[in-house]
Amino acid sequence: MAFALQVRGLTKSFPGVLANDHIDLDVEEGEIHGILGENGAGKSVLMSVIYGLYRPDEGKILVRGQEVAIGSPSQAIRCGIGMVHQNLTLVPQLRVFENIILGQEPRRGIFLERQKARRRIEELLHQTGLSIDLNARVRDLPIGLQQRVEILKMLYRGASILIFDEPTTVLTPQEVDQLITYLLALKKQGKTIIFISHKLREVFALCDRVTVLRRGKKVGTCAIKEATPESLAEMMVGRRVLFELPRGRKPAEEVVFSVEGVSTLPEKGKALREVSFRVHRYEILGIAGVEGNGQTELAETIVGLRRVRQGKLVLNGEDITYLSVKERIKRGLAHIPEDRHRRGAILDFTVMENLMLGFEDEPPLRRGLLTLHFPTLQEFASSLIREFEIATPGGDTLVRTLSGGNQQKVVLARELSHPVSVLLACQPTRGLDVAATEYLHRKLLELKNQGKAVVLISADLDEIRALSDRVLVLYEGRIIGELSPESDEYQFGLLMGGKSLAS
Ligand SMILES: Nc1ncnc2c1ncn2[C@@H]1O[C@H](COP(=O)(O)OP(=O)(O)OP(=O)(O)O)[C@@H](O)[C@H]1O
Ligand SMILES: [Mg+2]
Repeated sequence: MAFALQVRGLTKSFPGVLANDHIDLDVEEGEIHGILGENGAGKSVLMSVIYGLYRPDEGKILVRGQEVAIGSPSQAIRCGIGMVHQNLTLVPQLRVFENIILGQEPRRGIFLERQKARRRIEELLHQTGLSIDLNARVRDLPIGLQQRVEILKMLYRGASILIFDEPTTVLTPQEVDQLITYLLALKKQGKTIIFISHKLREVFALCDRVTVLRRGKKVGTCAIKEATPESLAEMMVGRRVLFELPRGRKPAEEVVFSVEGVSTLPEKGKALREVSFRVHRYEILGIAGVEGNGQTELAETIVGLRRVRQGKLVLNGEDITYLSVKERIKRGLAHIPEDRHRRGAILDFTVMENLMLGFEDEPPLRRGLLTLHFPTLQEFASSLIREFEIATPGGDTLVRTLSGGNQQKVVLARELSHPVSVLLACQPTRGLDVAATEYLHRKLLELKNQGKAVVLISADLDEIRALSDRVLVLYEGRIIGELSPESDEYQFGLLMGGKSLAS
């Protein structure tokens, strides 16, 4: 067996955290090797060490059997190792071509050399089947294409071992499918690929073998042929994880929240066009669609961040169209925002501060005019930490240091800590591991079965279908159709692509 990359006894700690604990890894030449594990398991740290971003405390790295010292990304590249980061590192103002050759610009005879570089890139495009306009400016490209530029940049530098750290989290389902096709094509050409993802569907579509990490340690490596989603989840989490949760009772007749003929102006984004729907008690209403078809705008309109031009929003029989965000929350609207780092939580505030965000003016947290009542606050925070099983050293820990799943639990706990009649959940499990995803799904179903209404906006069709009682498809700012969650994927695909079923 020929190995492209091997890691032996690799150990890396940060103050208070043993992120990688004597990890061994064998990546075969030409395979796609998945790295799996819960949030915080140590996947990104391991890849960062291999790519020369962190120095290991102990252990060694071998490339094609030779021990190498990788002290920086440029040394990694010299060893043929390239990495596509989750946060892309391109220069938005420059063109695709310039971004690809950046840092490797030909020196002599500029014009001729540039021509040569261009020819080499075109050859790469041809070989890999990747297609992209080399003259486009990176800032004008959707994320999926920007990622393609990153891939080309690595290939141009001669990388033969390519590391992808959660490349699909930022992509739409269509872009994910394309990425899968390209990665398989790269494999065919003999590249070795390391692929990190929380989505087992992608792992099964791509990987030959997977290595599972748990709390900084390697649990094991297995061939994908011998694995099932259940077995991998159990390796990751250390217990059984349920992928299919019982849905519970049927929705009631009673309407909790309705959107009635709502249109908005196309200021910064897509305009909504005569959007109408109702959500009932005991119902999860799924909103599916290719991202960018008005999901964000719909959520902002419901929450009160975007003005309605026409139509109205009704919550528990009351017109809330012109109420402020705060007034809506008081009347029972809760919200899990799609971007938990920008809107959901303040990373540099403590867990306790985040839990009371927006409620600090309300009794019983506030007594009298000026005093926040600290014992009450602490009691409030620790009861939520217990109830929502937030893994944190304490209420005074910064949210930034929690794993993604626990950050999301903080948001959820806060939103559900006041009386709720409708929860708007936007991309609630993006980037979360299987256990945190299961937790969130259970919570959404629990709310439904308590008689609340839930509007679930998600780009993850599996999630939508697993949880919803009914599904609406959003296309170009309007509701183009309704499907039952049991409808087949083909029907979803048609609607999501804008082909209404009637026509
Ligand atoms: N620069 C750093 N300083 C301190 N601690 C860190 C640093 N980077 C990572 N850690 C810690 O190391 C551990 C492993 O983190 P890592 O980012 O590798 O997790 P992961 O498996 O990639 O998780 P996710 O699925 O959420 O991306 C975590 O406890 C994390 O908080
Ligand atoms: Mg990571």
